[in-house]
Amino acid sequence: MFKLPIDRPSLLDLFCCAGGAARGYQRAGFYVVGVDIKHQPNYAGDEFYQADALQFLVEHGNQFDAIHASPPCQDHTRSFTPYDHGTAHLLPDTRNILSSIGKPWIIENVPGAPMRADFLLCGCMFKLPRLRRQRLFETSWRGFALLPPCHHPDPIVTVVGHGIPSGSPYLGKVNGKEYSRLARLAMGIDWMTRDELAQAIPPAYTEYLGGQLMNVLGANRRLSNKACSGFGVGSSVSNSVGGCTPNR
Ligand SMILES: C[S@@+](CC[C@H](N)C(=O)[O-])C[C@H]1O[C@@H](n2cnc3c(N)ncnc32)[C@H](O)[C@@H]1O
Repeated sequence: MFKLPIDRPSLLDLFCCAGGAARGYQRAGFYVVGVDIKHQPNYAGDEFYQADALQFLVEHGNQFDAIHASPPCQDHTRSFTPYDHGTAHLLPDTRNILSSIGKPWIIENVPGAPMRADFLLCGCMFKLPRLRRQRLFETSWRGFALLPPCHHPDPIVTVVGHGIPSGSPYLGKVNGKEYSRLARLAMGIDWMTRDELAQAIPPAYTEYLGGQLMNVLGANRRLSNKACSGFGVGSSVSNSVGGCTPNR
């Protein structure tokens, strides 16, 4: 079914929208397969399937080397007036299924979501100094990095909804079209509509995390090779990795 290449690892990109996350993982070296409940004609990954993410994960998750998921954030965000979008269950449900599959995974969401903040990333930590867009990432390997705190010396760009957010330093100074141009520039994304942009993860974030994921996959492979060649067979090391049948 999938056209997974043999020369690079594959990543399943759940709740993919137009593929802000996908583009970053591609830059990190992954072949990326996206899934979204809605048709996504602008998807930036390598393959796209319109389907329910959880059902797809159960049926196909174990065919990929790694998995990323961006469940809807509307019921977790602090920036809207509280209302029930009806999708809050998707984050814990996704985590439960991911944990049962045993492949390395990353879940992304907004500050306020019920998840561990292994990484809290913002545009100012990359070469996106104007972008204020904090996102949390929980990882199956409990990733950790010492990162600088948020610092935005220039007027900040926030990308929510359709227009110029209230309180923005650009309000009254530029029109909506010009703000959309600034928003695309700030996010490092040039292929999305304004609606898609408002939902996206800047590719710089997942390029960074994709590098970490590559290291995790490399470490698993090295452990797997050792286990296959007899080292540690029957130990907790060989039990923690897949890919070979231990000699007993
Ligand atoms: C926050 S956006 C993802 C943004 C994307 N990761 C990016 O970087 O561009 C969430 C997406 O989840 C999709 N979605 C909502 N419920 C879904 C479901 N049950 N199965 C698959 N996709 C779903 C929405 O259509 C939306 O495109």
